[in-house]
Amino acid sequence: MDTVAALTRLVQYLAVSAVGGSSLFFWYGHRPGESRWPRRLVRVAAAMGVLGVVGWLMNKAAEFGTGPADAGDPAQVWAVAWDTPFGRAAVARAGLLAVALAVSLAPRPTPRRWIVLGALGLAASATFAWTGHGATDDGWAGVVHLGADVLHLLAATIWIGALLGLSGLLIELRRRGDGSVASLAAEALNNFSRIGVAVVAVIAGTGLVNSWFLVGPGGAASLPTTPYGQLLIVKLALFLAMLGLAAANRYRHTPRLEVPAQAAPGLRAVVRSVMAETLAAGAVLLLVAWLGTLAPPAHA
Ligand code: HEM
Repeated sequence: MDTVAALTRLVQYLAVSAVGGSSLFFWYGHRPGESRWPRRLVRVAAAMGVLGVVGWLMNKAAEFGTGPADAGDPAQVWAVAWDTPFGRAAVARAGLLAVALAVSLAPRPTPRRWIVLGALGLAASATFAWTGHGATDDGWAGVVHLGADVLHLLAATIWIGALLGLSGLLIELRRRGDGSVASLAAEALNNFSRIGVAVVAVIAGTGLVNSWFLVGPGGAASLPTTPYGQLLIVKLALFLAMLGLAAANRYRHTPRLEVPAQAAPGLRAVVRSVMAETLAAGAVLLLVAWLGTLAPPAHA
């Protein structure tokens, strides 16, 4: 059941990243014009996200019931969905993604529609704070932890959504291969890097707050000896690797795109680097989905 919980959570994290972060990228980073893949990406992600929530709730019903058979019992699933705070948060997430699916069916998305889709995806992302370890403290500590987790989720959604949008754009530009691809790629990368530093700063700061509540100063030393701690360490290593790749994109590869003689090798280097950063981001989400099923040191 933990594996199903982690996998359905991963599907939902990826879905809100595409609906929230990629939609915003199609507004501030690169306007898709006639390309169809951005709409398809957001539609499929919204639908997968709703299915991910249903699968997660069914698994919870089995967990709280007598076993896997309860996953198919509508009364059990209904009870989990409506009688628990995390169930209601998950239903809100499914509702927001269902509305996003409806909005994404419009034939020709305008910049305003990408903003609406982005807002729906970010709101869906924020609901995770009520279905995981973010909602485990009381009083003022609870407010601070929950607030930090919401900001952590929003920043993560914006970063990973932009990477998905950038990856799709670079694949399209590589296929197109005409003279404009280098300048279009440079423009999109520069547009993202304008918000990149702020996004990374929020993620690092709120990640430390999360760690304070879930690991604590007393739990830091034991991190290498517990499954939770080992996963968190791998996550931090991936975060540092993503920072390195992002810095290489910004300071090394993107400037080459603006020099005609270096544009072609520059584009190859950018594609490799952005794909590696996107894969690392996917691995971070898998680790986070898994971390959500384990007891953090502060609760052990
Ligand atoms: C690529 C950068 C990162 C991404 C995409 C990311 C993403 C996430 C996501 C999606 C969650 C789940 C929140 C929830 O469902 O409530 C999370 C939780 C968490 N993050 Fe990050 N994060 C990143 C970097 C960091 C950093 C740098 C730190 C520490 C300094 C950190 C510490 C944590 C902790 C402690 C949790 C709680 C895990 C749990 O027990 O559920 N994260 N992160």
